[in-house]
Amino acid sequence: MTTLDKVVGGAPVRIEGRDKVTGTARYAYEYPVPDAVYVWPVQSTIVRGRVRSVDGAAALALPGVIAVLDSGNVPRLRPVQDAELAVLQSANVAYRGQIVAAVVANTLEGACEAASAVRVDYEEEEYDVVLDPGSPRITSPEKVNAGFTGTVDWGDAEGALAAAPVVVDAAYTTPTEHASPMEPHATVAFWEGETLTIYNADQAPWMSATAIAQLFGLPESAVSVVADHVGGGFGSKAATRPPTVLAALAARAVRRPVKVALTRQQMFALVSYRTPTVQRVRLGAERDGRLTAVWHDALQQSSKLVEYTEQTVSPSRMMYATPNSHTAHRLLRLDVPSPSWMRAPGEAPGMFALESAMDELAYALGMDPVQLRIANEPSADPESGLPFSSRNLVACLREGAARFGWAGRDPTPGVREDGRWLVGTGVASSTYPVYTRASTAAAYAEPTGRFVVEIAAVDIGTGARTALTQVAADELGVPMDRVTVRVGRSAFGPAALAGGSMGTASWSWAVSKACRALVKDLDERSGLVPPEGLGAWADTAEDLAEWKRFSRHSFGAQFAEVRVDRDSGQVRVERLLGIFAAGRIINSRTARSQFLGGMTMGISMALHEALELDPRFGDFVNHDLAGYHIAANADVRGIEADWIDEQDDELNPVGAKGIGEVGIVGTAAAIANAVFHATGFRQRDLPITLERVR
Ligand code: MOS
Repeated sequence: MTTLDKVVGGAPVRIEGRDKVTGTARYAYEYPVPDAVYVWPVQSTIVRGRVRSVDGAAALALPGVIAVLDSGNVPRLRPVQDAELAVLQSANVAYRGQIVAAVVANTLEGACEAASAVRVDYEEEEYDVVLDPGSPRITSPEKVNAGFTGTVDWGDAEGALAAAPVVVDAAYTTPTEHASPMEPHATVAFWEGETLTIYNADQAPWMSATAIAQLFGLPESAVSVVADHVGGGFGSKAATRPPTVLAALAARAVRRPVKVALTRQQMFALVSYRTPTVQRVRLGAERDGRLTAVWHDALQQSSKLVEYTEQTVSPSRMMYATPNSHTAHRLLRLDVPSPSWMRAPGEAPGMFALESAMDELAYALGMDPVQLRIANEPSADPESGLPFSSRNLVACLREGAARFGWAGRDPTPGVREDGRWLVGTGVASSTYPVYTRASTAAAYAEPTGRFVVEIAAVDIGTGARTALTQVAADELGVPMDRVTVRVGRSAFGPAALAGGSMGTASWSWAVSKACRALVKDLDERSGLVPPEGLGAWADTAEDLAEWKRFSRHSFGAQFAEVRVDRDSGQVRVERLLGIFAAGRIINSRTARSQFLGGMTMGISMALHEALELDPRFGDFVNHDLAGYHIAANADVRGIEADWIDEQDDELNPVGAKGIGEVGIVGTAAAIANAVFHATGFRQRDLPITLERVR
């Protein structure tokens, strides 16, 4: 290909790694801002109704308390589409935990204490927080998240199911899950006249600046969002959330810089979560394994404030060839906090159901589950008919099967014993779409021979800063240490978010384009020292407008070996192997971490994570990391991720797909299928906790 072969594809360590481990990398809350004061939100203790009055007298009498804010005394915001962002704009309460007031004080501890002294008087109304499949209020949205169509039909799925010699019909559920990134949501905000600066825990600095500007009726250039280092997000920081708005509002109200740092408990209501799902999958097949019908329905919840429908059945439209298909999303809006994106929204819960059903079908057919998937490999996208830009699912399955030692597997469930342990293996496919958004970047040559690249990208722990430096260095034809890539500032211009697995692919396109333009300019100057500030700027909007139509997805195959304690029901994932096909891998070190991180979150989804909402209080009862268990070191035993070489010329100049999300897709099904193989009991409800294992 191009010059890109030198550094891209290598394994350089993270540029900011040393800063992070020595504590000098600065996260949002740590920005020293002179005269900053602290904001503590007061959250609703009722589920639905109105705030009759907020009595801040006792709070204001405490030392160092500057203000008690409520819907009666904060600046007015412009209405925007995301009604969660109308913080303190009305007295209505839409869910338990919503922000109904806030205290501003000289210290964080003082604000916390004063918040508990604020008296809120409510007028309570009846509420509904239960995702009841029998509810008459269930709707079928036309459009769902990421632009997918709500219901899609082709052929005659019902007719094909009635005629199929082999049928699987099964119901699956997945629970409410919470992203819970390591760094809690935090914001520092200050106004200088009509300009606002925000240091934010943020996956999308440019988009946040745009959203905040809209809320305050300001030009985009008046709001600057800075996110130099971010400690994970998993979707919870991929859109502006209420705490960021609260910070900007409070800073405006008290005319002082403010800091907002959510506690772990506060995060559970205020920064989104993954919807629970109630799914049904029906598969019809010929005796040779070829699918004749795929039928997949998912019921999910959203809040009364926001209509968010997760695209859960979308992967069932493109995974396997079928002449007949029915896939539908249904939604029930409840008096609950708003769900939103969490790592692989849609694909993660949807592929648990589909890939479990494929395993059930393999048993119904007496066919090997790897062979069943290979037998249903489509030659083009089954829904759109578009060719795949590249599709190497079969290669992943074959490579994974060989490396895992799948050959010769006895499919009989519940027969392998090792002392008190039952042993089993399972497989599932992974997939994630290739999203790409227009981005802009600038590249500058310095007279010293160094280069600077600026892009409103953000490194949320993925290694994006390092990957973009590799791309820039290769395009400029210099070693990495001569290039500084500056990210994390909305002021660098429009850019994709660090989400939807689109960040590095979208940004690297703009970086590559800007660097090429700069090299061309330098070549024309034939070696003369560049003048101060010589630069080139690029925007990929026009490239994307001309992007040829293809079905673009990454794929993978995951193999799990589990041990199940026949007495306690404990499940241990002894071995997990993921083989992926995701285009060009820019940095093998950070990419492997991304895959392993996704797979680890998949173990967590399979065995641990579930947020329980108590209908009596309309509240998540296990809203901390003691009650909401996330896989820890001891839960992760043998785990390995690798990939096959995949060249795809229909992506972007670097040839990269996304790798942030595909790793969590399919993991839970591979583990559930292995638990079936070990015990003979099917696991159709996540997480697979002790009481569910027989
Ligand atoms: Mo990811 S859920 O798109 O940040």
